[in-house]
Amino acid sequence: MSLVNFSVVTGATSGIGRGYAEELAKRGLDIVLISRSEDKLRRVAKEIESKYKRQTRVIQTDFTEGHSIYPAIAQQLEGLEIGILVNNVGMNYTGTLANFLDVPDPDQMSRLVLPGMLEREKGLIINISSESASQPQPMQSMYSASKIFVTYFSRCLNAEYRSKGITVQCVAPLVVSTNMTYNISVNPLVKSAASFARDALNTVGYTTYTCGCLTHALQTLHFNHMIELLYMVLGNHSTSYL
Ligand SMILES: NC(=O)c1ccc[n+]([C@@H]2O[C@H](COP(=O)([O-])OP(=O)(O)OC[C@H]3O[C@@H](n4cnc5c(N)ncnc54)[C@H](OP(=O)(O)O)[C@@H]3O)[C@@H](O)[C@H]2O)c1
Repeated sequence: MSLVNFSVVTGATSGIGRGYAEELAKRGLDIVLISRSEDKLRRVAKEIESKYKRQTRVIQTDFTEGHSIYPAIAQQLEGLEIGILVNNVGMNYTGTLANFLDVPDPDQMSRLVLPGMLEREKGLIINISSESASQPQPMQSMYSASKIFVTYFSRCLNAEYRSKGITVQCVAPLVVSTNMTYNISVNPLVKSAASFARDALNTVGYTTYTCGCLTHALQTLHFNHMIELLYMVLGNHSTSYL
């Protein structure tokens, strides 16, 4: 028998993924949490169960291990009816910057859950991209390039499957206070993960591409100009080929 009403959130034990997991549980959904650390998974699952009275499941995996992880994930999702997938897991570099050869290959979960959604003719996939995708960002080459992959992938998937009842939304935040951003203080420009997830979830049904919240939308207007400025500064120090 299928168990209905599950949302799968990757990278659900902290930051934006945890924000989504909690917000979805608050809105009445049961949650499958996926991340690397068994102890964090159990702790967050327990907290969600007691706070929101929803069911949880946990799947421990490391997405840097490549394609070999997916059969085990598929097995653990078997029998669950998955209405929502939040493809949130993503890593920036362990230091702040890295060369191309030092960064692992990304992978994704949509292939696992989409067939069930298509059978039921409904489903929501949320892919977390980044404002870093809006321009090429040297010294974050794999991060910004992998995020534009996420953006294009989401938009293509949405175009391919929207007529079949599936919504694919791409969320491209600016700065959210999480482990990835060294828990930078929340301020008028920087959102907390919980309030970001709440605002971003409220955009579902209105748009399939969003930076997630009003404060990030306002900053986006200026962000591209700042990147152009950076190129100009870098350009002044580089060799001229003309
Ligand atoms: N924070 C921002 O300002 C910002 C801005 C734009 C976009 N984003 C995007 O938002 C997403 C979430 O970022 P975040 O800032 O919330 O990060 P975070 O606070 O560092 O959380 C990352 C989550 O992913 C899990 N995780 C990390 N590596 C994993 C792996 N290899 N396999 C499985 N799980 C893994 C972590 O749990 P474990 O450590 O237990 O595995 C944790 O639950 C990313 O895609 C990021 O690119 C963030």
